[in-house]
Amino acid sequence: MAFPLPSTNSIFIICIIVFCFSASTLSQQPYIGQDNTDCDNNHKESSALGYFCNGLNRSCQAYLTFRSTPPYNSVVAISYLLYADPFGRTINQTKFYVVQPVDIYWTLANNTFQGLTTCQALINQTGNPPALDLETCQKITVPLRCACPTKNQIDVGVNYLMSYFTDVDDDYYTISQEYGVDSQLLLQANRLSYLDNTIYPDTTILVPLKSPPSNSQTIEPPPSSLPPPLQPPTSSPSSSSLKENLALCPA
Ligand SMILES: *[C@@H]1O[C@H](CO)[C@@H](O)[C@H](O)[C@H]1NC(C)=O
Ligand SMILES: *[C@@H]1O[C@H](CO)[C@@H](O)[C@H](O)[C@H]1NC(C)=O
Ligand SMILES: *[C@@H]1O[C@H](CO)[C@@H](O)[C@H](O)[C@H]1NC(C)=O
Ligand SMILES: *[C@@H]1O[C@H](CO)[C@@H](O)[C@H](O)[C@H]1NC(C)=O
Repeated sequence: MAFPLPSTNSIFIICIIVFCFSASTLSQQPYIGQDNTDCDNNHKESSALGYFCNGLNRSCQAYLTFRSTPPYNSVVAISYLLYADPFGRTINQTKFYVVQPVDIYWTLANNTFQGLTTCQALINQTGNPPALDLETCQKITVPLRCACPTKNQIDVGVNYLMSYFTDVDDDYYTISQEYGVDSQLLLQANRLSYLDNTIYPDTTILVPLKSPPSNSQTIEPPPSSLPPPLQPPTSSPSSSSLKENLALCPA
């Protein structure tokens, strides 16, 4: 089956359902800054363990970005990584991932999941092994970073939060322009301000959206009759590289 590949560096936007089980009275989410690199400390207060449950709704629809990168450069391959359905929609923010030979928590968080999780959050999951005991083919829980809008945000028309993985050229203004959002709302959503607006590459920042990302920005629904999710695809052009890159582990 032929499957169109996006051009390199395409940004996929994936829809996800967020569930929250504990309440919190915090206002907006803090920007993680460079704390995501300090794996030995949990930096709970800067959201390294995950965004806080401070949304008006305990459950909501959220979005996250993923840049196409080999072997994850097709909808099917990214769906496989993120445990999504064949349309690139994930159903839950907690994913299960099979450890590959080269993985350590930091590279998993930064390179494989592109900042959609953190080393601290991976280490903090009940059942995940300590960093030094991580073994190939182990299954680990991967919590994805996403959040529901607060009451304050809903009051000003923000209905969705998108977790965006920053690139070297990004700053709050370019990201605001790219997604057509008010730059002050973007700063506020991350507890930043015009005076304190430093954004580092390879971090996640929340983009407050009034409506779902437009079609030109989102993942294209692929043709029907795709292989089911969670099977490495066998017939798309990228499948051989995906298979080579995924250890063959017992199911
Ligand atoms: C979603 O995640 C929650 C919390 O981890 C879990 O209790 C629930 O069963 C999951 N739902 C699905 C459909 O996987
Ligand atoms: C973090 O990941 C990004 C892309 O996922 C990559 O470009 C960057 O080099 C990584 N940083 C490190 C220190 O490996
Ligand atoms: C996760 O972090 C919280 C807050 O620091 C801590 O109380 C809890 O014991 C940690 N859980 C694990 C499994 O490391
Ligand atoms: C909050 O939940 C209500 C009821 O389920 C729903 O109608 C509304 O769209 C939700 N709002 C957001 C921002 O998710």
